[in-house]
Amino acid sequence: MSNQPTSTQYDVRGSVAVVTLNNPPVNGLGYGLRSGIVAGLDKALADPKVTAIVLIGSDRAFSGGADVKEFGTANAGKSPNLPDVIKALENSPKPVVAAIGGMALGGGLELAMGAHFRVAKGDANLGLPEVKLGLLPGAGGTQRLPRLIGLEAALNMIVSGAPVPAKKFEGSPLIDAIIEGDLLDGALKFAEKAVADKLPLKRARDLKVKPVAPGTEAFLQFARNTVGATSKNFPAPLKCVEAVAAATTKPFDEGLKYERELFQALMLTNESRALRHIFNAERAAAKIPDVPEDTKLRDIKKVGMIGAGTMGVGITMNFINVGIPVVLLEMKQEALDKGLKTIRTNYENSAKKGKITPAQIEERMALITPTLTYDGFKDVDLVIEAVFESMEVKEQVFKTLDEVCKPGAILASNTSALNLDKIAAFTKRPQDVVGLHFFSPANVMRLLEVVRGEKTAKDVLATSMALAKKIKKMPVVSGVCDGFIGNRIVARYGAAANEALNAGASPQQIDKALEKFGLAMGIYRMGDLAGLDIGYAGRKRRKEANPEAYIPIVADRLAEAGRFGQKTGAGFYKYEPGKRDAIPDPAVDKIIEDFRKERGMTARKVSDEEIIERCIYAMVNEGARIVEEGIAARASDIDVVYLNGYGFPAHRGGPMLYADTVGLANVVRALRRIAAEPGADAKFWEPAPLLVKLAEEGKTFS
Ligand code: NAI
Repeated sequence: MSNQPTSTQYDVRGSVAVVTLNNPPVNGLGYGLRSGIVAGLDKALADPKVTAIVLIGSDRAFSGGADVKEFGTANAGKSPNLPDVIKALENSPKPVVAAIGGMALGGGLELAMGAHFRVAKGDANLGLPEVKLGLLPGAGGTQRLPRLIGLEAALNMIVSGAPVPAKKFEGSPLIDAIIEGDLLDGALKFAEKAVADKLPLKRARDLKVKPVAPGTEAFLQFARNTVGATSKNFPAPLKCVEAVAAATTKPFDEGLKYERELFQALMLTNESRALRHIFNAERAAAKIPDVPEDTKLRDIKKVGMIGAGTMGVGITMNFINVGIPVVLLEMKQEALDKGLKTIRTNYENSAKKGKITPAQIEERMALITPTLTYDGFKDVDLVIEAVFESMEVKEQVFKTLDEVCKPGAILASNTSALNLDKIAAFTKRPQDVVGLHFFSPANVMRLLEVVRGEKTAKDVLATSMALAKKIKKMPVVSGVCDGFIGNRIVARYGAAANEALNAGASPQQIDKALEKFGLAMGIYRMGDLAGLDIGYAGRKRRKEANPEAYIPIVADRLAEAGRFGQKTGAGFYKYEPGKRDAIPDPAVDKIIEDFRKERGMTARKVSDEEIIERCIYAMVNEGARIVEEGIAARASDIDVVYLNGYGFPAHRGGPMLYADTVGLANVVRALRRIAAEPGADAKFWEPAPLLVKLAEEGKTFS
């Protein structure tokens, strides 16, 4: 145990040395672990009493791969690096047995493949998920895995990144034995027997990749075609194929070198940068700067849901899916019945796809207590309100909740735009009030904005974040402002697109440009899908309340003409009955032309590049303001919101990272150029002070 620089533990059991990896939570392969493994190995090799070495992790993880805490620190590149450690194990003259429990992922599996033998718990997850970060396994994974499990299986694992349980590999050269009882005992026995039987040391590098039918080259060509067709915005999957192909054509050491070259090239791509950014951003979003990580959480065993409309139904499903009972309140029996029926239909559709069983449907439905009164709300730990978007209705609901709910119950609103602090003020316990802003469809969309009111208690926030994780959502904290993070930015995006439309672009040109950029759906096709009547109704209400502030837009003209989108067969496009294909419509061109004429605008040519600049930079600019005002704790939170809630393309990493990639100085210049154009709303396009400051300092958001 003496002076090891270590996150490992060394002891000797009989004649077998045991090197235990000990870097919680998942044995990330940081410097301490890497150097500890080599030190343990050297000690074992130097001890004549030791005949074999067992490498073992915790129950939770043999190793989850690279140590994310180490990224960007001096230790990251410190020798021994992972390939050195693996080489040392593989070169050991005494047998090395890796004992895998929990998981061996990424570098963790590569490490295990450096051992001569591997034993595992049957349910241990083995995988090489590097492709999910736009990379490929860079420590021999692409060369060793095909030698151990064959070309096709290795390719599947490396290209998909999906983990596979160890028992699937029982009897293959990858897994020599599945251990039923205690993993360490089983591994020690295996090691002793390997010594007694004088088993030859199996070095993955010495194995040959077995040829496959109808011929290895033909198979690889097929793989290139399939993978190429399904990974259009990402270079990594095809590079994975190339690296694995090298295992069939090149000697081992050359294959390793080639893998390294491909890995390093991928590391420099914008796509990998984007995926790694999001990986880190999602972890960062879970942390609230002034809320300690060990904050004591409130217990959420029972939930009250108010409103069984579009949102109430989806929100309810999130809770019953994980076994939390829900008391579901509506005003009228018909509304309640309709909500319950929608939930059941949703589950029946999932059952048809084999996602859940009929018995599970009944189990989940039984967790709902439908009600028309607040009687069942006395003992709920959390209430979520999703009633009509009206301050008067919310007032009545929150005043009632304040009377009936037990002390300490969390009172949440799903409002998409109303002022949460005002809602909290309807109660005598504003510290217990929080916004839980789900996105539609709430049972599907991963994003959850956790809206922090002026008085929201820290433990309410911490509990909301933990609960979000439990119901499989991606929570992001937002301060109180109109539209919170997501909708506030999307309003700017919409306004920018409308300006491009007014300037001379057609809806189809704008949509195509946005879709080519990578957005899941162009803004006008999206509007037609969601229904143009909703936004129109809101604007009409605001216009009546404040006629001076109203700025006419084309969408209102369409709605006035009864064109509500897909539901009426016409919106920005026309639709054939029962079909969803958006067909450009000359009638829309006419409406737009008339609109421009009436507003004294002359159409000009607008390039696709200008459309992207306007739409995306308008988002970035508002994002910068949101960070500046402290509505979002960090710029990367905005990226998490846009990827999980608004179909922003993953390979761009979110609007804020995209701006970093373009260069903030370039973004500022473009904003100023647009602001100076004749007829431009100069205030709208004025670059946010934070954006200007970062650009001047040569900095980035990330
Ligand atoms: P909805 O109109 O589909 O459902 C509201 C339901 O609440 C109706 O079934 C109504 O009968 C019920 N209700 C109204 N007053 C009630 C009361 N006093 N007690 C019990 N039940 C009552 O509306 P939707 O779309 O579900 O929206 C609900 C809330 O969620 C709104 O605040 C909205 O801004 C917000 N929201 C909506 C999103 C959407 O995409 N629809 C997205 C995110 C938030």
